Amino acid sequence: MKLLPIERRTGLTRDEFIENYLKPQKPVVFTDLSKDWPAMKKWTFDYMKQQYGHLDVPVIGPDYHKPGPNYMKSQDTMKFGDYLDLIQKGPTDKRIFLWNIFDHARELVNDVATPTISDNWLDKYPFMFFGGAGAVTNLHYDIDCSNVFHTHFWTRKHIILLDQEQSDFLYQHPYTVQSHVDLQNPDYERFPALRKATGHETILYHGETLFIPAMWWHYIVYMDGGFSISLRSSNGLKAQAKGAWNIARHFAIDKGMNKLMGPKWKSWKIEQAEKRASKAMAKVGVEEMEHV
Ligand SMILES: [Fe+2]
Repeated sequence: MKLLPIERRTGLTRDEFIENYLKPQKPVVFTDLSKDWPAMKKWTFDYMKQQYGHLDVPVIGPDYHKPGPNYMKSQDTMKFGDYLDLIQKGPTDKRIFLWNIFDHARELVNDVATPTISDNWLDKYPFMFFGGAGAVTNLHYDIDCSNVFHTHFWTRKHIILLDQEQSDFLYQHPYTVQSHVDLQNPDYERFPALRKATGHETILYHGETLFIPAMWWHYIVYMDGGFSISLRSSNGLKAQAKGAWNIARHFAIDKGMNKLMGPKWKSWKIEQAEKRASKAMAKVGVEEMEHV
């Protein structure tokens, strides 16, 4: 697998962003898009604990994708304050995922501002993500196919992005937006097509925002315990329709078949992913021969 650095820009104007990154759907790190948000100074671990430590939060671990009755469900609940202590203390694979803190603490919305860098912002309020050092967000692309502006707080996150053309090399499980390859330690014996993939990577620091174009695969490692926020914008009607289809097939087909077949359904998905990858590799092999 080849990984290229994602461009980092300071002072990017709206026109430049739209022309050079949004329209061509190319990722970029803004070093200063969120610099004036009150959240940047205010949202410390201590502040979050003091204000919202009493809330119950759903926590997920590495079993999140295990087939069976708990497939893609949170099984644990913790006090938010205890969870923040946990991720500050050291490595843990427990994450808070797609929990909308703004449902419980609406006033936090006032500490972030919708950027003026582009239009068509989707959410009334955005999602936050939390993870301890070493926690990994599985390789996936966002099911609703929107553009994502992902801003990180205080610590470091390593993010790998890959475009849709890489999908067959990534062993995507059919009827899902997920892959289960470990991009930190790629197992080329088991997943040989991964060698052919080309991606982009960056380390995101406090206050930096990564533009993840719609439908780009992302794999995220929390290098330290920390948290992030995602704002989303529509990538047009076609992408929204694709998003609706993704959501329908996830709930109707993937979750339904998991309920019916459990681990057998997962085995079938793995088999299909391997077939597609072999085909994609064979195709690349032929193209390479033709260019000799
Ligand atoms: Fe995502």
